[in-house]
Amino acid sequence: MTDIALVTGASAGFGIAIVERLIADGYKVVGAARRFEKLQELAKRLGEDFYPLEMDVTDRSSVDKALASLPTSFEPISLLVNNAGLALGLDKAYEADFEDWLTMIETNVIGLAYVTRKLLPDMVKRNHGLIVNLGSTAGTVPYPGANVYGSTKAFVKQFSLNLRADLAGTRIRVSNIEPGLCEGTEFSNVRFKGDDERAEKLYEGAHAIQAKDIAETVSWIASQPEHVNINRIEIMPTSQTFGAQPVYRDL
Ligand SMILES: NC(=O)c1ccc[n+]([C@@H]2O[C@H](COP(=O)([O-])OP(=O)(O)OC[C@H]3O[C@@H](n4cnc5c(N)ncnc54)[C@H](OP(=O)(O)O)[C@@H]3O)[C@@H](O)[C@H]2O)c1
Repeated sequence: MTDIALVTGASAGFGIAIVERLIADGYKVVGAARRFEKLQELAKRLGEDFYPLEMDVTDRSSVDKALASLPTSFEPISLLVNNAGLALGLDKAYEADFEDWLTMIETNVIGLAYVTRKLLPDMVKRNHGLIVNLGSTAGTVPYPGANVYGSTKAFVKQFSLNLRADLAGTRIRVSNIEPGLCEGTEFSNVRFKGDDERAEKLYEGAHAIQAKDIAETVSWIASQPEHVNINRIEIMPTSQTFGAQPVYRDL
């Protein structure tokens, strides 16, 4: 029987690349996002192995309605890729927009937790399933302006590990992918609220990670034999590394 995957955030960036890769790997894929027209374009291109699903992960009734509307040919979900997420702003905590903080928490934390909570019982009942979360190096490495974004990704990391603890004795697997600088997605355009020039500058000469690299990682995790669980995988471009911790003297 063909395994069925649900990829959230399938209308852009990593999501599109992950959908394409999973279909090439033989999955049938449900792609979820708010911008349904983008998913429909994808459906035209990908054909009958793709099912476009309008869903806002921050709205529980939207998630309930969307999941309840899945045709039987796209159920049950065995692979959940919790990819929908965003960063908003890069301002210091004492200057940042609190509404942006709420949106990040509602999307990256509550949305991810709710979609997982909805799909997990059926995986446990069938004793079969894999959840791949999209965390970030920002969930481990602090940087100025990452305040709430980094904290939401720290939640995703710890939630992934805690799910593993709860799923002990089952065959359900959980992985957290933690990328560093990635280009070719809408991530920075969203973060900088349409200041595309600023977004573009960030990647100049950086040879950053591409969406297809992340899709390849999801595919590799999913292709491991059932006795192998990849807990966490951190990926940075070769051009990105760690810095010294600054000490401000005589403050
Ligand atoms: N790019 C990077 O440098 C980077 C690095 C580390 C981690 N990540 C993480 O990787 C994931 C994907 O990032 P990306 O670079 O591919 O970003 P992207 O190009 O901006 O794509 C984000 C996706 O999330 C969806 N989304 C946002 N809010 C949503 C909501 N409320 N409900 C449903 N879908 C929603 C968007 O679709 P709609 O707008 O159509 O809803 C879009 O499809 C995110 O979790 C991000 O935090 C990215």
